[in-house]
Amino acid sequence: MKHFLTVAGLLVFAFVASASGTISIYHAGPSSPSASTRQGWIDLNKNGRKDVYEDSSRPVARRVNDLLKRMTLGEKIGQLWQVNYDTTPDKTFAEKLKRGEISSFLDGSTLIETPVMRNKLQHIAVEQSRLGIPLILGHDVIHGFRTVFPIPLAQACAWEPDLFERTQTIAAREASAAGVDWTFAPMVDLARDPRWGRIAEGFGEDPWLGALDAAASVRGFQGTNAADPDRVVACLKHYVGYGAAEGGRDYNTTEISEFTLRNFYLPQFKAGVDVGAWTVMSAFNDLSGMPASANRHTLTEILRDEWHFPGYVISDWDAVNELIPHGLAANPAEAARLAITAGVDMEMVSTTYPDTLAQQVKTGKIPLSVVDEAVRRVLTVKFEKGLFDHPYVDETRCQTAYLRPDAIAQAREAAAKSSVLLKNENGALPVSKATKRIALIGPLAQDAEDLVGSWASRFHAGEVVSLADGIRAKLPAGAQLTVVRGCSIIEPGAEYLLRHSDDPGKITGHPTGSNEIAEAAALAKGADAVILALGEPRNWSGEDGSRSTLDFPGRQQELFDAVAATGKPVIVVLFNGRPLAVPELQKKAAAILEAWFPGGEGGNGVADVLFGDVDPSGRLTTTFPNNVGQVPFYYNHANTGRPGFGEYKGTYIDGPTVPLYPFGFGLAYTTFEFGKVQLEASKVKMDGMVSARAQIKNTGGRTGAAVAELYIRDLACSAGARPVRELKGFQKIRLQPGESRDVEFKLSAHDLGCYDAKGNWLVEPGKYQLWIAQDSVSGEPVEFEVNK
Ligand code: BGC
Repeated sequence: MKHFLTVAGLLVFAFVASASGTISIYHAGPSSPSASTRQGWIDLNKNGRKDVYEDSSRPVARRVNDLLKRMTLGEKIGQLWQVNYDTTPDKTFAEKLKRGEISSFLDGSTLIETPVMRNKLQHIAVEQSRLGIPLILGHDVIHGFRTVFPIPLAQACAWEPDLFERTQTIAAREASAAGVDWTFAPMVDLARDPRWGRIAEGFGEDPWLGALDAAASVRGFQGTNAADPDRVVACLKHYVGYGAAEGGRDYNTTEISEFTLRNFYLPQFKAGVDVGAWTVMSAFNDLSGMPASANRHTLTEILRDEWHFPGYVISDWDAVNELIPHGLAANPAEAARLAITAGVDMEMVSTTYPDTLAQQVKTGKIPLSVVDEAVRRVLTVKFEKGLFDHPYVDETRCQTAYLRPDAIAQAREAAAKSSVLLKNENGALPVSKATKRIALIGPLAQDAEDLVGSWASRFHAGEVVSLADGIRAKLPAGAQLTVVRGCSIIEPGAEYLLRHSDDPGKITGHPTGSNEIAEAAALAKGADAVILALGEPRNWSGEDGSRSTLDFPGRQQELFDAVAATGKPVIVVLFNGRPLAVPELQKKAAAILEAWFPGGEGGNGVADVLFGDVDPSGRLTTTFPNNVGQVPFYYNHANTGRPGFGEYKGTYIDGPTVPLYPFGFGLAYTTFEFGKVQLEASKVKMDGMVSARAQIKNTGGRTGAAVAELYIRDLACSAGARPVRELKGFQKIRLQPGESRDVEFKLSAHDLGCYDAKGNWLVEPGKYQLWIAQDSVSGEPVEFEVNK
């Protein structure tokens, strides 16, 4: 386990930075251009000639071929190994680099903040190895680098895929200034189970919307040319099925039928490949019995043969070696053989490739052509990233690249757009700025650090705006804002936390004081407005952040109950990385704003919504269950043979069958009425278009954004039962009070299809239903027919 890179990571970095004197052991040269760069090309192998692979005017494929011909087997295998920089910061790196035995470094926590060290390592690789093949430096830039944006699940709730393009463009700008060439993002895993902590890192439960978000993220990271110095290579992860972990327990087994794989788990990856993502990460999990990192079907038959993916596949951390504990491989050599022949080109961290491949090639166990092909892919991406022609990063750019005003503004806008209004009774929100006495209560009221969520890369705690600070900035002089914690976010010492005793993020906090909850309730009683900030610690989601319960940790429910018992209307702001099952809130709170982990500008962005400077316009991309027993729970499920139990199949004797909040749900400060859906024609040809419209009216007293969601259902499909609803389009429109507007959707009949188990896109004649609705359970369908 290596995810100490958050709080602890900052400490480690401080140590390494101060120890940077020792780094001169590498005898690295200065990072100014060498004589040969000044000639316009780099004599990488120092033979005094411009060889084909050194010549940037030649096509990449020719450069790769030329280089491949010059490489020894050892140098080839070196290109297939990524090393964790943190584990062995000693000079063996220099020796290995000189021998061309390392392709890439992965920064656990210490390499990145400025590119100085990265350039030093690059100087050794480029100037002191025989062929001068540059390194590629990878890092997890998931939702921002120094400027932290809302977690991906939150940003997805903006229903504005371009938002990802904008935020990831900034993330790429900042990360590349620090020397990052390659991000391990976007994470495009579909997730249906909120117990799984990594639901926070993805886009939710819908493959169609998720595909748009995936493509936009790749465009944001890579731009139109990954070689641009302010762009980074993207990596689609975790291929594939990781989000289906049984029981929501991280790294667990998955069972996914080919039909479900094709229609739910693969589309986001395909969308990313289609827009040119250069790398893919193979997942930890096994997939219907075969580990994803040795799965030839997904890695070669689908990714290469069907989709023609030209880049390279990296394993997840140690995932090649983990084929042994998985019970697939008997030893490291077998693990390496299974992974590379299945299609894993580069091994992350574990050492089965460098330790065993050469011998296996020499003895004929692995054909040289398999190694060559993997190397070709790696080199192709390095050339495409421009690393051969511009191996070094400008060391001055990082002085001005972080937290620029446009980045801060974008982070604030994203935080506001990502929040979803779940309840608003009697206009409890927005809060008037003229309110005299505001009580802000809760463990997440003043806390800034938790607001960034998991994988917050290089955030500095002092740069994060807390909710208290965001609210304070809204209030005029004379207003009184009192902030109290009310209770601890968790109760330290609880038995179930002991497993995490090595991870301070999961267990820190002082226990709730004996009068703390009562005092908070008393404060609420005397206030004119009461805002409660509740949720989860940021490390309770993300990797290895699975939960068996979905309610509030610690005594937060008790705090809510005590404050609600005062009879004051309570406004709850939720900061969390997954859907929570909190039905009591829905019953008793006056208003609920789901703010997720909103990032570095979270306090400001959320305050913008709370005080009505920005209207809430987010909609859920993940179902909120009523209780943990309902999960996995998602709107786009197939029907049973015994329908009639409502939208969600099956029943429970002892609890609701419906969700707390469905996919697509979210309120505004105004209300909307959706008119009847009108179809241009109720019969459509297979090569024709379905055209549907509905009138939307703002029936409330404020301007607001409506999201018109287009769902379809195929009533009979020979490839397999289709979901009761599938999202196929949406439009977000702003309407003034009283204003009506028609939204119109045009959908080609082709788009109504699905994949069969062989991966063929199938569109069949027959009856379909269509909704234009406010969420995935409301609205009335109209029917149409597709004819041959
Ligand atoms: C995670 C990946 C991550 C990698 C490198 C793994 O543990 O599953 O998502 O990219 O580590 O940090």
